[in-house]
Amino acid sequence: MTKEFLHFVIMMGAAKTVCLVGIFLALSLCCSSPIAHGQLTDPQEVAALLAVRSNLNDPYKHLNWTKKYDPCTSNWTGVICFLNNTDGYMHVQELRLLKMNLSGKLAPELGQLPFMKRLDFLWNHISGSIPKEIGNITALELLLLSGNQLSGPLPDELGYLPNLTKFQLDLNMISGPIPRSFANLAKVQHFHMNNNKFSGQIPPEISTLPLLKHFLLDNNNLSGYLPPELSQMPKLTILQLDNNNFSGSVIPDSYGNFSNLLKLSLTNCSLQGKMPDLSGIRGLLYLDLGMNQLTGEITSKRLSENITTIVLSHNKLNGSIPSNFSGFSRLQKLYLDDNLLSGFVPSNIWENINFTSETRLDINFAGNLLSDISGILNIPSNVTLKLNGNPVCANSIQHNISLLCGPYNGTQEALNSLNKPESTCPPQSCPIKNYFEYVPTLPDACFCAAPFGVGIRLRSPSISNFPPYREDFDAWITSNVHAKPNIPLYLYQLSVDSIKWEPGPRLRMFLLFFPEYTNDSNAFDPSEVRAIADTFATFTIPGDDTFGPYDLLNFTAQGPYSDILLPSLSRSSGLSKGALAASIIGSLICASAILVCTLIFFRKLRQRSQAEVVGNQLVPKVPMKMDGVKAFSFENLQLATNNFSVNAQIGQGGYGKVYRGTLADGIDVAIKRAQQGSIQGDKQFYTEIEMLSRVHHRNLVSLVGYCDDEDEQILVYEFMPNGSLHDLLSARYRAPLNFGTRLHIALGAARGILYLHTEADPPIIHRDIKANNILLDAKWTAKVSDFGISRLAPVSDAKGVTTAHVSTNVKGTPGYVDPEYFLTHKLTEKSDVYSLGIVFLELLTGMQPISHGRNIVREVNTACHSGMMFSIIDRSMGPHPSDCVKELMALALRCCLDETKDRPTMLEVVRELENISSMLPEPESTALELNLNTSSSGNSVRSAPSSSLYDRRSTYVSMDLPGGDLVSGVIPPIKPR
Ligand SMILES: *[C@@H]1O[C@H](CO)[C@@H](O)[C@H](O)[C@H]1NC(C)=O
Ligand SMILES: *[C@@H]1O[C@H](CO)[C@@H](O)[C@H](O)[C@H]1NC(C)=O
Repeated sequence: MTKEFLHFVIMMGAAKTVCLVGIFLALSLCCSSPIAHGQLTDPQEVAALLAVRSNLNDPYKHLNWTKKYDPCTSNWTGVICFLNNTDGYMHVQELRLLKMNLSGKLAPELGQLPFMKRLDFLWNHISGSIPKEIGNITALELLLLSGNQLSGPLPDELGYLPNLTKFQLDLNMISGPIPRSFANLAKVQHFHMNNNKFSGQIPPEISTLPLLKHFLLDNNNLSGYLPPELSQMPKLTILQLDNNNFSGSVIPDSYGNFSNLLKLSLTNCSLQGKMPDLSGIRGLLYLDLGMNQLTGEITSKRLSENITTIVLSHNKLNGSIPSNFSGFSRLQKLYLDDNLLSGFVPSNIWENINFTSETRLDINFAGNLLSDISGILNIPSNVTLKLNGNPVCANSIQHNISLLCGPYNGTQEALNSLNKPESTCPPQSCPIKNYFEYVPTLPDACFCAAPFGVGIRLRSPSISNFPPYREDFDAWITSNVHAKPNIPLYLYQLSVDSIKWEPGPRLRMFLLFFPEYTNDSNAFDPSEVRAIADTFATFTIPGDDTFGPYDLLNFTAQGPYSDILLPSLSRSSGLSKGALAASIIGSLICASAILVCTLIFFRKLRQRSQAEVVGNQLVPKVPMKMDGVKAFSFENLQLATNNFSVNAQIGQGGYGKVYRGTLADGIDVAIKRAQQGSIQGDKQFYTEIEMLSRVHHRNLVSLVGYCDDEDEQILVYEFMPNGSLHDLLSARYRAPLNFGTRLHIALGAARGILYLHTEADPPIIHRDIKANNILLDAKWTAKVSDFGISRLAPVSDAKGVTTAHVSTNVKGTPGYVDPEYFLTHKLTEKSDVYSLGIVFLELLTGMQPISHGRNIVREVNTACHSGMMFSIIDRSMGPHPSDCVKELMALALRCCLDETKDRPTMLEVVRELENISSMLPEPESTALELNLNTSSSGNSVRSAPSSSLYDRRSTYVSMDLPGGDLVSGVIPPIKPR
């Protein structure tokens, strides 16, 4: 018996065992399943649900709840159940009735659903009071009643819910005091009770709650004093009490002692006295004490370095503006208007801010007694500063500040706007059905897909300007929302479609989720839509310090998703009895389990015997058919290259030699022949070909075919008549290249690499970008070559098994290697950005990356810093537009920054190059049929999955072995934060 056969028999045995176990499990499931027994919802709960139903009005007939069918097994709208193995009944675990236009009252019988964990009547029109019986639902974790017309007081009984974590009653008309019994809610983390009519004193006992994080009571009629004890709450991050009337109360000094507070918002609370020293709140991000009667100086020695918002408007604060108000690096809003502040207008508040196009700082000092300006006011364009109504405005001519002294019109517009991502995908390219939208991610790549919409509102964000935080937001949402279990979404699957600031301030947003890009579907599966909806509805997204808690407003499930979230109303007509149907389904599951097992068994058998026939290795010798890639015989290629004559040879590398050849049909090709003795394993060779055959882009050299004869392994590529950029720039072949052509080459190379980073699946990090690997076709179009072609090194162990290695040794071409990769061995797309930056420098200067021991980056930096930039520009470039040259130089140097995070992404590189070429004077840009906006990906209208640090896909990398040969490997996916 051969080893293979033995292996075969063992495998068959294993398959059989698995199947038998599977059948056994399937059968036992059938026999023990409550469905098969016709087990149903606990009758007490059925009665309770019917009572709940009879108290509701359902004008749009969303609820299909009728006595005829069982709630749990016939899918009553919004009723989510589980099976309790102890009593054998199904129990209601969740009532999810979000935004169904329901009115009427909450029935006391809700208290008879003791297993319910989540009670959700968000955004309906329920009126009346909250029944005290809800206090009996011991399992209750989430009580979600926001956005109704509930009134009356809160029953004390709600304070005894031992498992409650989220208490969400905002936007109702609930009155009366906050019951002291709430101090018993040992697990509660969220009190969202804003916008009601609560009155009376905040019970100091609340401060004993060990886990409370968010205490939102703004917009009520609370009075009395602010309990000093609140500062002892170990977990409290948000205290928001705006628009209450604590008439005559002070802000207790202890409020400077909050250990974890991020946001303190006490606008318009009739507070008096001095501002406490808040220096002790180390992480404070947002402070609003505006519209009170605070007096005295602003004493805080030092507010938290990360603070985004300071509002102290409309008080009676005096003294000077503290010098420590400068130096915040994330400040977005500083309002000190309408106080009695005197002294100097500080001129350095923004000195630590690293401005980008989305950063804004809005400063309002209007209506104070400021009389002079310290230093010179040099206001960046991202900053608005208002000084009107200050004595300093009398000197406005001297200080040249008359603009700052005009009437205040603020930057509300800027704060509210969201730069929608550049969408260059024409919407009309999508199919007729109007629910399809394209995902705008990359300029050259769009796809049509049906989005699933989720409306949310950030209830108490710790920022005042969203755009700079957009990437953080996208990362937060995509890494925590799941369409498939435990798999985060790609960044390109989320589009923040609109944002709007509302009073609070709260931030309303509409999120669009797009399905993962695949070739065979442009919509989510129903299970994926449900999974996304569940994540939001169960509030399982972990909180974020910056964005705070969110309200769920709505789901927009149109087009292919319209039936998914609402059970269809006609459903009930088809069923005779839920239980009967269920048991039929149960038997079907059993039967199909057995059938599937049988099929797997036979397929294994067949596959195995085919493999046996083909050869003694399991790898099939005949590779799968690959689009556009031909298999050549060795004789074909001998003929094409005049028997691999020395005259036909055009290059040589560690892997072997490259020949120019002409195929029988007259097409010129480059033929890469592996050296004898370095033949790689079959499987890897095919993997390579298969991968290359899938990578198609006009800026990538394409694979024409391959030869796999006897001891030969040969790859055949399209021929590049203009050779490599290296040859072109090096002295020997020097042909004058004007700036337009150089820019065209730079852009082509960048687009090719961008494709590898973002559209190739799995993405590829080239890792050996250099002038030698950028080839030029007859029209001077740059084509990147040698991506993962990887002479796979023959690392064979004793048994002749070949394995691919991912070397941790940093290999690459000296002068092009990313210094951070060199130090940390961490390879990212930005390593290619660095190498491409070096190529740009070569294009501009004609220098080699390293020559006479001098490094091109240092040389160029030195020249630029001493104002000698134009002295190092390649003379043979001829006349050139200096603006464009400067821009390209700046871009190149940014690509070559030491720190990965400081470099632009390849997408940004491409965008910037496109910008520069749009600045080119006409004759230059048209000279070469630049055709810059041509999409390379042809017919499909879609968006490329945009790759980034948050991308969860594994990334294909080509890497060197210590011996200098390339191997391919897959590096583990980079985890989202
Ligand atoms: C703040 O905390 C410190 C140390 O816990 C304590 O000594 C001090 O008295 C507290 N201040 C106030 C005003 O409660
Ligand atoms: C400010 O933010 C940075 C970056 O998020 C963080 O490392 C630092 O600890 C923060 N500082 C404080 C005082 O929380």
